[in-house]
Amino acid sequence: MNDAGRDSQGRRRRALVTGASSGIGQAFAERLARDGYDLIVVARRRDRLEALARRLSPESSVSVEVVSADLSRDDGIAMVESRIARELELDLLVNNAGFGAYMPFVELPPERAAELIRLQVLAVTLLSRAALPAMVARGSGAVINVSSRLAFSASLPSPPLPRRAVYAAAKSYINTFSRILANELAGTGVRVQALCPGVVRSEFHEVQGMDASRFPVGIMSPEDLVDASLAGLARDEVVCIPALDDPGLFAAIDASERRLLEESHGGEVSKRYDSTRG
Ligand SMILES: NC(=O)c1ccc[n+]([C@@H]2O[C@H](COP(=O)([O-])OP(=O)(O)OC[C@H]3O[C@@H](n4cnc5c(N)ncnc54)[C@H](OP(=O)(O)O)[C@@H]3O)[C@@H](O)[C@H]2O)c1
Repeated sequence: MNDAGRDSQGRRRRALVTGASSGIGQAFAERLARDGYDLIVVARRRDRLEALARRLSPESSVSVEVVSADLSRDDGIAMVESRIARELELDLLVNNAGFGAYMPFVELPPERAAELIRLQVLAVTLLSRAALPAMVARGSGAVINVSSRLAFSASLPSPPLPRRAVYAAAKSYINTFSRILANELAGTGVRVQALCPGVVRSEFHEVQGMDASRFPVGIMSPEDLVDASLAGLARDEVVCIPALDDPGLFAAIDASERRLLEESHGGEVSKRYDSTRG
């Protein structure tokens, strides 16, 4: 077992990963097990989670608890919240469960939009709310929220990008939530990361009937993505964009937001609206 799995008192660390039955979540569970973390793995497909637990437990000598829950439902969220609240020593929460629902907004079934928002906005928020008080009290811990590069895509047309208004907006929520939380928690010893993958090999596109291998972009392995996320977390990278070589590009967004806020704090309406006033 790697030392990353033990804290300074030699206590075994514990992580909860949502969406661990496939793709990126499964790769997080595998890497964290190798690092010696005891795991709580969450998704709807219990059979997949149990197969993962049967493989990881003996392979890495860690305990793997399976929680089958639908995190787009209030009762599923509540079940995992209460598991976390009882689990006072959670070291890492990975809010990863998600799906895409790429289609024109006017054709997106309203219940599918609501499901997406409950899973990728509400569950992320409430599970973080459940986990963070104990981490802050202990002075250590981390939350990784899996977002997407598409959170930065609001100005780009679709096509060629997928039709994605609700998905990309949910991921923008995750980015803003994570960035503000990271600021709020500075100095507490607790880290927060928004992980922004590009196209990653998983079932994400397949479940939407899409073939990602036909996209004109590179496809990252979930294992590389997870390694980058944990390396980024270790260096306090709040927004982790694994394929981006120049982090200065993100710093420029930060600077531009600050400037926009500074230049728009007045109580007077901008002159450019003068001609439209009665
Ligand atoms: N793959 C990409 O190209 C890509 C790019 C950017 C961001 N992401 C993000 O990465 C995250 C993981 O996706 P992935 O690529 O690994 O896709 P995936 O292989 O389809 O895995 C999605 C995971 O989410 C779980 N999940 C879905 N709905 C759920 C629900 N209602 N309740 C509980 N768990 C649920 C699934 O488990 P069950 O079906 O068993 O519940 C599965 O474990 C998502 O947040 C996605 O938005 C992916």
